[in-house]
This record gives sequence, C-alpha cells and structure tokens, in this order.
Amino acid sequence: MKAVVYDTYGPPDVLQLREIEEPEVGDTDVLVRVRAAAANPLDWYAFTGTPLVTRPGLGLKEPKRARLGADLAGVVDRVGKDVTRFKPGDEVFGTGKGSFAELVVVGERGAIVTKPANLSFEAAAAVPVAGLTALQGLRDKGEARAGQQVLINGAAGGVGTFAVQIAKVLDTEVTAVCSTRNVDLARSLGADRVIDYTSQDFTLDSQRYDLVLDIAGSRPWSELKRVLRRDATVVIIGGPKAGRMFGPIGHLVGTALASLPSSQKATFFISKEGADDLDTLREMIETSKLNPVVEKTYPLSQVPEAMTYLGTGHVKGKLVITI
Ligand SMILES: NC(=O)c1ccc[n+]([C@@H]2O[C@H](COP(=O)([O-])OP(=O)(O)OC[C@H]3O[C@@H](n4cnc5c(N)ncnc54)[C@H](OP(=O)(O)O)[C@@H]3O)[C@@H](O)[C@H]2O)c1
Repeated sequence: MKAVVYDTYGPPDVLQLREIEEPEVGDTDVLVRVRAAAANPLDWYAFTGTPLVTRPGLGLKEPKRARLGADLAGVVDRVGKDVTRFKPGDEVFGTGKGSFAELVVVGERGAIVTKPANLSFEAAAAVPVAGLTALQGLRDKGEARAGQQVLINGAAGGVGTFAVQIAKVLDTEVTAVCSTRNVDLARSLGADRVIDYTSQDFTLDSQRYDLVLDIAGSRPWSELKRVLRRDATVVIIGGPKAGRMFGPIGHLVGTALASLPSSQKATFFISKEGADDLDTLREMIETSKLNPVVEKTYPLSQVPEAMTYLGTGHVKGKLVITI
C-alpha cells in the first residue's frame, strides 16, 4: 500500500510517498481504507522534530515512527474476529496513527465512529483533532456557559473555525480575532463580533471576557489580562513556533506561570481522542450546527506541499489530503 513516510527530520521534502507493507489486523483491530486525511500542526512538529525538547519522545536522532497523519475518514475494509462495533463497508471518521496512507489499523475501542451522514469523506476528515480540541477546550477546560463573553484568538484556522461555531452552540457571545482576509469567514461562522488583529488590538478594547480560547498564542499574559473579567479563564491551546528548543512550549508554560498570582486562571491542555466526543461532534454536524471549513485539498503525492502551506500558520480552516 502507499503511505507517506519519513526516515529523517527536516523540512517537508523529507516526506516521501512509498510502497510499504499492509498493516497486520489483530483480533480487536479495525482496518480502515482511508479516503481522506487532514493536516494538523502536530504532524508538522513530528516530521520537523521540533521543538527539540520533544525529541526524547519522537526519537533522539531519527524518528521512532516513520508514518505521518492522524485525522482520517474512510471505509472499514476488514475487522478482527473479536470486533463487534464495526463491519466491512461501514463509513467512519476519527483518528488513527499514520493516516496519510491507503490503509490504517485502529483498535475497536480507538477513536473512530460512524461518519456524519451529511458530510463527504474530505469534510469529515477535517473534523477530529481540531474539532475535539475546540469542543474540549470550550466545554471542559473553559467550562463555557450560556451568556458568557468568549474571545477566540486565532479564529480562522483549524481549531478556531470549529471553536467559533461550538461556542455559539454553547450559547455564548463570541468575539473572533483573525486577519483581514478572514473577517467575513468568522462572521459567517456565527461570531457576534470580529476583531481584525492587523488593524485593531483586542487587548486595548473596552470589552471584557469570561473565557478566552487562546489558539494563536500571540499575546503575553501581561496584555491578555487587561481584557479578562475577575473570574475569567484563559484556555491556552497553542503558541508561536518560534524557537527550535522550546517552540510553543515556552509560551504555554510562561503564560500559565505568569497567571499564578492573578484571580484569573490560565490553563493549558492537550485534547484527548475519544469516541464519545466524536459522536457529540457528529450530532452537531448532522443537525447543521457545525460545518467544517476546508480551504484546500491535496492528493497523497502532494503532502509536502500541504505541509509547506500549513507551516505558514495562515491556513483558513483545514487542509485535506485525498486518497
Ligand atoms: N492543545 C491541543 O490539544 C492542540 C490541538 C490542536 C492544535 N493545537 C495547537 O493550536 C494551534 C493552532 O492549531 P490550528 O490547527 O488551529 O492551526 P492552523 O490551522 O495552522 O491555524 C492557524 C491560524 O492562526 C491564525 N493566526 C496566525 N497568527 C495570528 C495572530 N497573531 N492572531 C490571531 N490569529 C492568528 C491564522 O489566521 P490568519 O491567517 O487570519 O492570521 C490561522 O488561520 C497550534 O499551535 C497547534 O499546535 C493544540
């Protein structure tokens, strides 16, 4: 089968499309024929081997895992003898290791569920990692409640486009921060107010917020706290890539530490794969409350091009790989 692999860390041209052996299917495994996969910053960090502090986990000198991709949508090809939840022919979406490939093995209890009936494979593949991060960041970490003022910094990317819509499902008043070219997109997703960060500084605005979902990580705590209500929560989702050693980790840890003396709370989290939350996202999609934004699709042979664009940090919604 064809799969995107990398033997060494480096720029996107280390990624190669190769013929490799089909994966083995254990008794509790589901083999998925991938129809579409989506790109996430976590893929970019994996093949670049950055930030360097993550190398002990990724592989010190060379990558421990040669395969790339997490998000997927596809069709169940074969199941192990103990699998009862899925059968060949089922259309599924979720996450699986190495999804930039024709076939992926996922444990039955892993993170795949029935694909939303009203989405193409391409649109469904865009959902898992970014959608789960937005859902868990707002609902669980941020404990968003109806009527609250919520600011989404980085509203136009993968996580942000889901976050704006989910914050509206949770009945909050949403302010979206993005660049000029994405103002109309943010409005169309349901944002009540949109701030164009190229011409307006949201930290100097008179509006105060109960919850900030900080996806872009573009502002230090000293500036962010100017717009926080007394008991506000800042959920830090990401940060700038800057710095090969610590990358976004410097911003994440720095913000959390700087917030300690304040009445407001800043908290970082890593989203969890999970079938229950994927089902929650599917229900939102099937009731037309949530719609993935896909800026561009690429064939499997053009994963390096997709990753080069992702690396700019200015994708509108998601980039999808078709297989
Ligand atoms: N904690 C977790 O579990 C988790 C999960 C997923 C992702 N992440 C992290 O979250 C971050 C975003 O992920 P993503 O998938 O949404 O990335 P993405 O799709 O690459 O989105 C980046 C977006 O950031 C916006 N942006 C860039 N500079 C900005 C600024 N100064 N102010 C406001 N917005 C700005 C861009 O919009 P414009 O073009 O309008 O500037 C772009 O649409 C990454 O750091 C990623 O590693 C964390």
